[in-house]
Amino acid sequence: MDGNAAQGINFYTRKWVRPEDLNANGTLFGGSLLRWIDEEAAIYAIIQLGNHRVVTKFISEINFESSARQGDLIEMGLVATDFGRTSLTMRAQVRNMITRKTILSIERIVFVNLDEYGQASPHGYTSITYDRDRMPTSRPGED
Ligand SMILES: CC(C)(COP(=O)(O)OP(=O)(O)OC[C@H]1O[C@@H](n2cnc3c(N)ncnc32)[C@H](O)[C@@H]1OP(=O)(O)O)[C@@H](O)C(=O)NCCC(=O)NCCS
Repeated sequence: MDGNAAQGINFYTRKWVRPEDLNANGTLFGGSLLRWIDEEAAIYAIIQLGNHRVVTKFISEINFESSARQGDLIEMGLVATDFGRTSLTMRAQVRNMITRKTILSIERIVFVNLDEYGQASPHGYTSITYDRDRMPTSRPGED
């Protein structure tokens, strides 16, 4: 799974699994992981679409393939797979840096670009930027 699934994915963020991130089984709590991925995807969408007002619309099937224990280091990766009119679709993968196993992969995370009224709004982009050229230049609410 690690080879092809990781193709094109950039692993941006690493996390250290801490006691508060564990479930009753003593392994990484899925809810913590999903919160981290959703935040990672939001940051990625803001940078790609140049807008703070992006929201999670859809997350496809999630297969928790392996886990992590306290003290493990994990890394999260994303890549944009489709620029729609108002949406951005991403693929995600999380890996355990200690065991080198894939923890999970998500085929489609869809974010929608919103206007100031909370309505879906065209973002005007069709491809990935690897720079910070679309970064918002003001803080949320100041634009
Ligand atoms: C995001 C929101 C404004 C979109 O409203 P909407 O009426 O569905 O808007 P649209 O029908 O125009 O769809 C917007 C985009 O989402 C896509 N979309 C809609 N439903 C989808 C679904 N089930 N799966 C994947 N994409 C979907 C559409 O294809 C469209 O993309 P495109 O313009 O690139 O083609 C609205 O659904 C909303 O506010 N949802 C709550 C979002 C939120 O708060 N998320 C945080 C977690 S609670």
